[in-house]
Amino acid sequence: MNVEPLLKVENLVKHFHVRLGAFGERTATVHALDDVSLDIQHGETLSLVGESGCGKSTTGFTILNLHRASGGRVIYKGQDLTLLDDKHMRPFRRDLQIVFQDPYSTLNPRMTVGEAIGEPMLFHKLAAKTELNDKIAALLQDVGLPSRFASRYPHELSGGQRQRVVIARALACQPKFIVCDEAISALDVSIQAQIINLLLDLQEKYGLTYLFIAHDLAVVRHISTRVGVMYLGRLAELAPRDALFEAPLHPYTKALLSAVPEADPVRERNRKRQILEGDVPSPLNPPTGCRFHTRCPIAADICAKVVPEWKAARPGHLVACHAVNSSSA
Ligand SMILES: Nc1ncnc2c1ncn2[C@@H]1O[C@H](COP(=O)(O)OP(=O)(O)OP(=O)(O)O)[C@@H](O)[C@H]1O
Ligand code: SF4
Ligand SMILES: [Mg+2]
Repeated sequence: MNVEPLLKVENLVKHFHVRLGAFGERTATVHALDDVSLDIQHGETLSLVGESGCGKSTTGFTILNLHRASGGRVIYKGQDLTLLDDKHMRPFRRDLQIVFQDPYSTLNPRMTVGEAIGEPMLFHKLAAKTELNDKIAALLQDVGLPSRFASRYPHELSGGQRQRVVIARALACQPKFIVCDEAISALDVSIQAQIINLLLDLQEKYGLTYLFIAHDLAVVRHISTRVGVMYLGRLAELAPRDALFEAPLHPYTKALLSAVPEADPVRERNRKRQILEGDVPSPLNPPTGCRFHTRCPIAADICAKVVPEWKAARPGHLVACHAVNSSSA
């Protein structure tokens, strides 16, 4: 058994410098990600949830060094990826893949499915030209598509089929880790279920590790090993799936989960929906102290002044909240 995590994310920061005003006359800093620390274990599915704009995609992109980090470290195979330029990232790129919501953004409309899947294999020298067609056919089979699809173009496929091709293209690199950024969000519900099952099957077959970014908490509950909750660029809570859904500790997690319908009719009847007051503050000027204090129903004086420590309330259950301490939880 591997004791070391696959990836260690330490105090990761990503700030975007943007121009404001009709003529871009002012500059400002978007605090997209601040001080995010988490370990990603071999073979797990770690999901990230939180309202739109809270930094989920930025976390995925910065871990993969597709966004250059403003601070912190991402340790993979003993190497801090944040220090590597494109050339030195190349040997690691193969291992670390991403699947987006929109397959059109990944697939070149002028490339056939076979070319799209074959390209990374040739680039990373994972197949000789003579064996390429067989390998493409095997990958298509892996994702549940017939080998004749190799000669089709992306516009000749349905949304679900296109996403299967994108997954096959990612698999072609023989990756260890895949960021699935809203990978199923644009699909019909029945197709979503198929793609989720496909991802789970492939995880088992190839020992893949996923960072799964999604809005749909029911899907997250189904697919995840652990779940991280983000609020305005920071992690609020991170716990094993059942602990998070059954006994959330952070007031924001509680509010977020209170919106999810219960399958059990008795629990559903007793479910108390907790509506959060106010909008998410701007990441250009995030609140001091705990970023959630402007909307938190139990905020105290300290909350506006001091950033809550990221600490273990129980073994493996991490939370950033002054109202939760290690012993009381
Ligand atoms: N390239 C960029 N330049 C400037 N700001 C950016 C950039 N990318 C993201 N942001 C900002 O960073 C913050 C976090 O964005 P991010 O896309 O990570 O959120 P998200 O949680 O993935 O949201 P969604 O659920 O809508 O996909 C947002 O305020 C966003 O506007
Ligand atoms: S630190 Fe304070 S404001 Fe933040 S979630 Fe906890 S109680 Fe609420
Ligand atoms: Mg996103």
